[in-house]
Amino acid sequence: MTEFQAPKGVPDYLPPESARFVAVRDGLLEAARRAGYGDVELPIFEDTALFARGVGESTDVVSKEMYTFADRGDRSVTLRPEGTAGVIRAVIEHGLDRGPLPVKLCYSGPFFRYERPQAGRYRQLQQVGVEAIGVDDPALDAEVIAIADAGFRSLGLDGFRLEITSLGDDTCRPQYRELLQDFLFKLDLDEETRRRAQINPLRVLDDKRPAVREMTADAPVMLDHLSDVAKQHFDGVLAHLDALSVPYVINPRMVRGLDYYTKTTFEFVHDGLGAQSGIGGGGRYDGLMQQLGGKDLSGIGFGLGVDRTLLALAAEGKTVTGPARVQVFGVPLGADAKVRLAVLAAQLRAAGVRVDMAYGDRSLKAAMKGADRSGAAIALVAGDRDIEAGTIGVKDMATGEQVDVAVDEVLTEVLSRLRP
Ligand code: HAM
Repeated sequence: MTEFQAPKGVPDYLPPESARFVAVRDGLLEAARRAGYGDVELPIFEDTALFARGVGESTDVVSKEMYTFADRGDRSVTLRPEGTAGVIRAVIEHGLDRGPLPVKLCYSGPFFRYERPQAGRYRQLQQVGVEAIGVDDPALDAEVIAIADAGFRSLGLDGFRLEITSLGDDTCRPQYRELLQDFLFKLDLDEETRRRAQINPLRVLDDKRPAVREMTADAPVMLDHLSDVAKQHFDGVLAHLDALSVPYVINPRMVRGLDYYTKTTFEFVHDGLGAQSGIGGGGRYDGLMQQLGGKDLSGIGFGLGVDRTLLALAAEGKTVTGPARVQVFGVPLGADAKVRLAVLAAQLRAAGVRVDMAYGDRSLKAAMKGADRSGAAIALVAGDRDIEAGTIGVKDMATGEQVDVAVDEVLTEVLSRLRP
C-alpha cells in the first residue's frame, strides 16, 4: 500500500475515465443551460445552522452525515451535504428574488456526506443541480423534471425510470401526518421506530426491514389525502409531463432524505446499480426560503448524481466520449526539430487543436509508441535533416500513411485533415 491514499469513500477520476466524468457533468449541465438556467459557483462550506435549519435536524443527512468542524475563529462550519440550502441562502442574501421570477440557477460540484461507503455511495459525491425559485406553477415543475430526463437521455442512458409523487402542502400535510401517526402508533413498533414515528412519521415508511414493511403496507399515503389545491397542482404536473412525452410512474410511498419537500417530489431510479439506485432526485419546496429568513416564495429543483450516472452508463454497456485528449502528436528527432515542432504545437493549440509531443529525446520507436498511446489521429515526425530540407512528415495514425509536407504548409494541412 502506498503511504497516502485518498480519503475513504472518495473517488479519484483519472484519464481516460475523467474525460467521461466531464462529458457526463457537462452534458447534464447543458440540458439546464438550454432552458435558461444561469450558473452559480457557491461556497463548499457554509454556516452549520444553514443546513440544520434548511435540510432538517431529523434527517440522516444532518444528524449523522455532516462534515462539521470549528474553524480557527471557532465558528461552526459544514462541508455542504447538498446544494439547495446554499442556493436559497445566496438568493436571499443577494436579493435575486427582487428581479424577474422565476430565478433559474444551475450548479455542479462536490458534496459531502459521511455515509458508509459502498458501490455508488461516496463520501464526496458530485452533483449537477438546478433550482427555479419564486413561481409556483406546475408547468415549471414539469420543465425541471423534463430537463433531467433530457439530460440523462442526451448521454444515451435509457434504463431508468422517473418515480413521482406529491407530498402535499401546509393545508393537507398536518392532517395527513396525524392520520399516519394514528396508524403507526397502533402497530407493534420497537422503541426507536416509535420515536421516529413521533418526530418524522414519513420516514417510517422508508424502513427497509421486511417486518416493518409488512406492517406498514396498508399505511395511508399522502397522495390519497391531498388538498384540492395540491391535487390540482399534481394533476397539472402530470398533464405537462404527458404532453412532453416524459414517462413516469407514480410512487405514493416515496420518501426523500431531505425534509424541505412539499407538493411535487421525484426520483430517477436506475435498476442496473444495485442498492444505490437513485441517479437523481428533487422536488418542490414551499417553505424553505421563508424558513431561511427570506420571502415566502416556493421553488423547485433537482440534484443529479454524476458518479452514479457514470456507473449507470457502464451498467448499460454505454460510454460517453468527450473530445479526444490529443488530436496531434509531435515526434521530434533532434534539437532543431524539437524547437520547430514546439512552435507548430503552439500554433495548432492556438487554432483550437489538442496537441502533445514527445519529450526527453526519446528514440523514434519510443516516441512513436507515445504517439500511438496518445490516441492522436495525426503524428508530425521530423528530424533535424527534414527541418533543414524544409519538410515535416505528416503521418495518418489510422492508415500508417506518411507524406512529407513543406514546413510552412503543415498548419493548413493538419487543420484541413482534422476539419474536412
Ligand atoms: P439527493 O436525493 O439527496 O437530493 O441527492 C441527489 C442525487 O445525488 C442522488 O439521487 C444521487 O444520485 C446523488 N447522491 C446522493 N448521495 C450520494 C452518495 N453518497 N454517493 C453518490 N451519489 C450520491 C439533493 O441533494 C437535493 N439537494 C436535490 C434537490 C435540488 N432538490 C431540490 N433541489
